[in-house]
Amino acid sequence: MTSKSTNTLWHHATITRAARETLHQHQSVILWFTGLSGSGKSTLAHAVEDYLYHLGISTFVLDGDNVRHGLCRDLGFSDKDRVENIRRIGELAKLMTEAGIITLTAFISPFKSDRNTARNLVPHGDFLEIYCECPIETCEQRDVKGLYKKARAGQIPFFTGIDSPYEAPENPDLTVDTQSLSLEASVQQVIELLAQRGIIKTQQDCL
Ligand code: ADX
Repeated sequence: MTSKSTNTLWHHATITRAARETLHQHQSVILWFTGLSGSGKSTLAHAVEDYLYHLGISTFVLDGDNVRHGLCRDLGFSDKDRVENIRRIGELAKLMTEAGIITLTAFISPFKSDRNTARNLVPHGDFLEIYCECPIETCEQRDVKGLYKKARAGQIPFFTGIDSPYEAPENPDLTVDTQSLSLEASVQQVIELLAQRGIIKTQQDCL
């Protein structure tokens, strides 16, 4: 979509992303967690953040439920609104990458095309897609927020996995089996990915 604003000019920052990364002593990157409601995205994102924080790394978690209380409070769960939700988060994550921090996003982000659009906003390698893989039966059994029960009772229309689609990633940077793995083991998988990609120093250095 082109911008509605006319007569606006891009102002180049004096303090660059590279300068901020030098200040922070680590690269910035987007860790994009995707998966069904109840698949463990937020839990894992916050646990990874906790781990990184204790390594002295600057991070921030953007969480679906939280963002919908503010930045995206005008959006519901129609396909159109979900597309706009993810577009805004992609742009926000891009800005946070420029700010030199590691951004962890925890949104269902059900549509492949929207995730790809977010990926393409930043340089190659700066967007790592992490699929929290968990069968809907397990998410529904857990039903931490009681939303599946409500959705089955017809009280929540367009619920992901029930009457709204979820398109699983075909080639994510990492798939975490959140059905079987412990939280600690899931965190380790993400940390290993970051070490492999050279975002943080080797895992050994981190321990
Ligand atoms: S997304 O599809 O646009 O990426 P997002 O991650 O922001 O969704 O919000 C999902 C959260 O909103 C769920 O974890 C759940 O708590 C809540 N929610 C409320 N209504 C729905 C719905 N119809 N479908 C999915 N999640 C919903």
